[in-house]
Amino acid sequence: MANEELKRTIKDMVIAGKGILAADESVSTATKRLASINVESTEETRRQYRNLILTAPGIGKYICGVIMFEETLYQKTDDGVSFPQHLKNAGVVPGIKVDGGLADFNDKGEQYTKGLDGLGDRLEKYKKAGARFTKWRAVYSISDNAPSQELINKNAADLAKYAKICQEHGLAPIVEPEVLIDGAHSIQKCHEATEKVLKEVFRALKKENVAIGLCILKPSMVISGKQAENRAGVDEVAKRTVEVLKKTVPEELPSINFLSGGQGPEEATQHLNRMHTLGIELPWYVSFSYARALQEPALKAWQGRQENLKKGQKAFLKRAKLNSLATMGKYREEMEKEE
Ligand code: G3H
Repeated sequence: MANEELKRTIKDMVIAGKGILAADESVSTATKRLASINVESTEETRRQYRNLILTAPGIGKYICGVIMFEETLYQKTDDGVSFPQHLKNAGVVPGIKVDGGLADFNDKGEQYTKGLDGLGDRLEKYKKAGARFTKWRAVYSISDNAPSQELINKNAADLAKYAKICQEHGLAPIVEPEVLIDGAHSIQKCHEATEKVLKEVFRALKKENVAIGLCILKPSMVISGKQAENRAGVDEVAKRTVEVLKKTVPEELPSINFLSGGQGPEEATQHLNRMHTLGIELPWYVSFSYARALQEPALKAWQGRQENLKKGQKAFLKRAKLNSLATMGKYREEMEKEE
């Protein structure tokens, strides 16, 4: 039973030219985003912002799934329709972030992701509210002694337990191991860390008997640290990312949907596009699941003002369209200037 349900969800979420929108910022992250445009964060302003993005006309042309935060799952559009129902009407699969955020792991400053306690009960509640898929994010920082093998093992084991519980409840799991871009590290360091992390994640998923063919992977790209000097260019990021994925990700995985992780919107689109023009055969669907790189221009255009709603939606749809083109290797930089 659960398997049929999972297969349908994966089919609805792995569609050529489409990607996933991450709109699952926690209250504290949403508060930071709203502060960047001088808008006070309240339940209502967060709802207004979600409304702008999720009711953008024709969202379903480029987006096949939306990851929501729990608060949004129970909120409504300006027209009084619950967000999950609205997405369903728009042909978009509703999903939910189910991890419980980060907690201290060791005295090296590393953090693990909590949230396994009571997960099954929460999943039943989310399913009733319309969610069909889930997301769990684990993070790894890069420094001289991080990521540690202990954290790599712990996060992989927990990602696998989470994925298994979700599949048992008929919810398709997005497995998100994010190697953080923060720092001055080289792309080589990121390459090594990402390879180790992904290797362990798939080892743990197999050990836990997770159906890999019914999961989605949401990784970070192999990229230089944000503060690094001489950051690697688009070509190198795309080549190294594909190289690591080919080495670590089983072919039976249906889809890889990248996070943007602090890359600028244009940069994130360029990297995805380049992966599709390298001439290397990719055994999985390779697409996006960006939050910041899809939403930033919309947030700026909106400025918290109702009269800017259409402007904000236009900015969001433009990024969604350009990333859609990138999934087919059809994005060109000149398109950034087009209306
Ligand atoms: O967990 C993080 C989000 O799902 C992706 O966000 O694209 O801004 O890194 P990002």
